[in-house]
Amino acid sequence: MNALTDTRAAEAVNETTAMATETTLLNPRFYTTDFDEMDRIDVTPVRRDWDELLAEMASDPNKGHFRKTADWDAIDWAGMDPALRKEFVDFLVSSCTAEFSGCVLYKEMKRRGRNKDICELFGYMSRDEARHAGFINDALREAGIAVNLGFLTKAKKYTYFRPKFIYYATYLSEKIGYARYITIFRHLEANPDRRFHPIFKWFKEWCNDEFRHGEAFALLMRTDPRLTSGVNVLWIKFFLTAVYATMWVRDHARPAFHEALGVDIEWYDQEVFRKTSEISRQVFPITLDIDHPRWKPTLRRLEKAMVDMEDGKKAGGIGGWMKKTWAGTRAAAAFVSLYTIPARRHTPPASVRLQPAY
Ligand SMILES: [Fe+2]
Ligand SMILES: [Fe+2]
Repeated sequence: MNALTDTRAAEAVNETTAMATETTLLNPRFYTTDFDEMDRIDVTPVRRDWDELLAEMASDPNKGHFRKTADWDAIDWAGMDPALRKEFVDFLVSSCTAEFSGCVLYKEMKRRGRNKDICELFGYMSRDEARHAGFINDALREAGIAVNLGFLTKAKKYTYFRPKFIYYATYLSEKIGYARYITIFRHLEANPDRRFHPIFKWFKEWCNDEFRHGEAFALLMRTDPRLTSGVNVLWIKFFLTAVYATMWVRDHARPAFHEALGVDIEWYDQEVFRKTSEISRQVFPITLDIDHPRWKPTLRRLEKAMVDMEDGKKAGGIGGWMKKTWAGTRAAAAFVSLYTIPARRHTPPASVRLQPAY
């Protein structure tokens, strides 16, 4: 066996690849959908905005961005506080999986499609996500723990979503991705002594890619008014609640990471929700009331229940099973409580397009 196959074999079974492959309620998933139905979308109703956005993507403003430069400081992985190292690796692996999940879905749409507009869009988006995932994986590679993305494509379970659910979930994850990256970037711009890894310096141009991807899904949703009215408003509310709640629980599992950044997790999450809500008014007729008195206390309860569920699962046996089941019931009740907070209603603007403003 030569050195290269040795490395590949090691990557196939290494811990980060196993982490990325695992399917849990909170891990980023891989998606598949009805590609033929998506291929039938007609973008004529949004043609002007569409052509403008696609021209921007074709010009590839971030072509040279995802390369290490002199700004990439050396990192002492071995000397990093073990708790921080563990959570930071978890953050990188989860981000890399999420980026790569977009890459896989978008590439498949491009491969299967016949519709010129759709294939062009998904081609550009998979190009961007491949760069994003690759760049994060480079950072992991420096620590000797890169995720084997080829293995992941084959081994990870794919979740089927009908196209409209792909629009809601993917639109939100692109916009929330933008809001997360820009909020960390601005925070570290003001507090450079907290920047414990160079990758954060790349977040500004990076998040503009995510912003554009979100714009594309906003336009796709605008091609059919039924997607954002009637019973679908209840689905939109479901996805908003699920995406926000997942982010809250996931972020709270990384106290050392946020401590190192000097970020209060509740502040950060609320800030990201606020930005995402403000942006999502471009296409969604509702936003969640994140200032409602029930919002934060219920998220805290949900987070506690999720931790207990995990503990029960680890403990095993009858005691563990009972703990897990009871915690699961509490988590479900908390989710219902969040979902039933009355939403704020809006009339989305006539013109859907936005520019990144944060
Ligand atoms: Fe991305
Ligand atoms: Fe994206």
